[in-house]
Amino acid sequence: MHFHPGFLKSCLHIFILNLLIQVAIAQEPNDIRLSPADSIMVETLISRMTLDEKIGQLTLLASAWNSTGPAMNADYEQLIKTGKAGAVLNFYTVDKVRELQKLAVNGSRLGIPLLFGNDVIHGHRTIFPIPLGQAASWDLAAIENAQQIAAMEASAEGINWTYAPMVDIARDPRWGRVAEGAGEDTWLGCLIAKASVRGLQGENYKDGKHILACVKHFAAYGAATAGRDYNVVDISPVSLYENYLPPYKAAVDAGVASVMTSFNEINGVPSTANHWLLTDLLRKEWGFRGFVVTDWTSINEMVAHGVAADVKAAAGLALNAGVDMDMQGSAYLNHLEELLKENKVTQASIDEAVRRILTAKVRLGLFIDPYRFCNKQREQTEIMTKASQDFARKLVAESCVLLKNSNSTLPVSPGVKSIAVIGPLADSRKDMLGNWYSAGKWEQAVSLLEGFRNRYGKQTRIIFEKGCNLNDSSVSGIDAAVKAAREADFVILALGESGEMSGEAASRTNIDLPGMQYTLAEAVIKAGKPTAVVLFNGRPLAISRLNRIAPAILETWFGGTQAGNGITDVISGDVNPSGKITMSFPRNTGQIPVYYNVKNTGRPYSPDRPDEKYVSRYLDCPNTPLYPFGFGLSYTKFTYSGIQAGVKGNSITISAKVTNSGGRDGEEIVQLYIQDKVGSITRPLKELKGFKKLMIKKGESVNVSFTISREDLSFYHPDLMKYWEPGEFNAFIGGSSADVISASFKL
Ligand code: GLC
Repeated sequence: MHFHPGFLKSCLHIFILNLLIQVAIAQEPNDIRLSPADSIMVETLISRMTLDEKIGQLTLLASAWNSTGPAMNADYEQLIKTGKAGAVLNFYTVDKVRELQKLAVNGSRLGIPLLFGNDVIHGHRTIFPIPLGQAASWDLAAIENAQQIAAMEASAEGINWTYAPMVDIARDPRWGRVAEGAGEDTWLGCLIAKASVRGLQGENYKDGKHILACVKHFAAYGAATAGRDYNVVDISPVSLYENYLPPYKAAVDAGVASVMTSFNEINGVPSTANHWLLTDLLRKEWGFRGFVVTDWTSINEMVAHGVAADVKAAAGLALNAGVDMDMQGSAYLNHLEELLKENKVTQASIDEAVRRILTAKVRLGLFIDPYRFCNKQREQTEIMTKASQDFARKLVAESCVLLKNSNSTLPVSPGVKSIAVIGPLADSRKDMLGNWYSAGKWEQAVSLLEGFRNRYGKQTRIIFEKGCNLNDSSVSGIDAAVKAAREADFVILALGESGEMSGEAASRTNIDLPGMQYTLAEAVIKAGKPTAVVLFNGRPLAISRLNRIAPAILETWFGGTQAGNGITDVISGDVNPSGKITMSFPRNTGQIPVYYNVKNTGRPYSPDRPDEKYVSRYLDCPNTPLYPFGFGLSYTKFTYSGIQAGVKGNSITISAKVTNSGGRDGEEIVQLYIQDKVGSITRPLKELKGFKKLMIKKGESVNVSFTISREDLSFYHPDLMKYWEPGEFNAFIGGSSADVISASFKL
């Protein structure tokens, strides 16, 4: 390779400048800055790339292997060979990845290796509970470990980039994608975002067992009007900053390598064309140094949004807003050269986008070894290991939430001789994986029925009846189900949604049980045997009718590969449930949105004055949800007493005594909420500001103490400045947002 002397001189300048920068700034974990040598390599590469090759690096192509969007045909092999693709998605296995990487490295002129992306959302081959289920465990270490295993399995099959974590805050369960997130609370959402990024990326990717994370969908996709997917987001700046933006910022602060733009507009500007969002906020204010990728063809969709006359104009808007990579739209591929000639984009912005993507590839070590994620031995030994299955089974149990348990119906008493397992989800493996299950093989999942047979099969007769279908009007199976219930000592009703009724493009206007499942439940429960409903769903459901008649309800979400075993561990009492919901369950769809951190309004409804007319209420439904944020029962009982709050310097300490007054050891998620009683703007009645998950032995008491700072009480003001205000505060401690004891303090 022959270099022009002037070129070598400029390299030397870059080297010295970079050396000075590196010396000046300590390298933090996940530091995106390259070493001086790597910087020179990237700059040298950029200086040698043609415009075509640069635009190629900004292009992400999907395979038809597993289409996760409106697939647009692209001859990806030809494009890869000619250096017109920087990354591909939905390809995996060592052989396939090696084959495509060879096309790029050996086939193209400069041999720049590809990124291989995939939606590893809650596991790769070992599928864990859906994120809304994992959130219900409130176990940050477990969530991080699940992501760590997901990254290990994905990287063992050639994947080096995942489109996770999804951190969209959502208060509307009609929106099917609530399944992919952490629920309605911003503060908890931030902690889970950080844990997910840590698990996926590790300290850095040099070990080849961690992968690039991609926080999505930036931004506020969960605030889609009426819960209808892809719909308009119209939101006040204060609410955007206070409720929706923080989890993305948390992921950026955790060093996330990439950000995905959301399909939606925010107040008239689609995220993919939003210079304020992608450059002013993300890069200048938050200091994000990774790269920005669009969601699937969201550049092209700006024509439908009505902000671009054609895809060429949309491509210009996107690059100038700060989008580095175009997912599956080929908008950059087809239009950037022309836009550059017309001076509608600059060479500098193209080069900067290329630089960011090459930097990510350097950090993955792909220029040292493009095949470092193509290790056959790892593929054969690190996937679906027993350790991963054992951990998955534990996480299933920890994600379960006991919503109702009248007369201690659960756990099933050890002496039962026969159990009827009834319902359209009892024998389903596929639905156990939920949605976005990546390379998970549903044939390897454990159904609820199999879980029961594994746990009880030797000494107990297990009777199975489907009873009805998931979502049609047939009642032909109900008689046989009732007969089975009459024959059994205990009855399990496996009800809920299919795995595909939540996730993307899966909004519902009625979130009650689909089909004839309630009719089935009514008939079976009338048989009068001890009966527990096991609920499978990807969103909170409006199950007021079921709640009235079911003696016990265990929320299990979609537990993944080990669903049947983990759920049965709870049903049998081997594991005492400890989960707490992180998204409120409405009484009916008409009550939506219903969430815990509500404002008081000027005419608050008071249960002490139930007949008061002119207050903020409905004529036909209480204001409170069926099950509130932070709620979940145990097989034991926890009582709270002796709350105290004190201020010392910049610290506020709130403590209380928690007693396990029941008959068995159990874990309790002790929650701390704060109310700012008087502010310069209205403030929520409660805001989660702390939690501790504690094992408390039966009969024992523990003193739980939280210490927060004045800064923890700060909030965004109309001028978007964030600060706390002095005054009176209430502190609440309890096992749910609706069941607390309180104390006050003053700042
Ligand atoms: C989809 C989803 C996004 C996903 C991407 C790639 O449309 O919105 O969450 O990561 O396309 O599959």
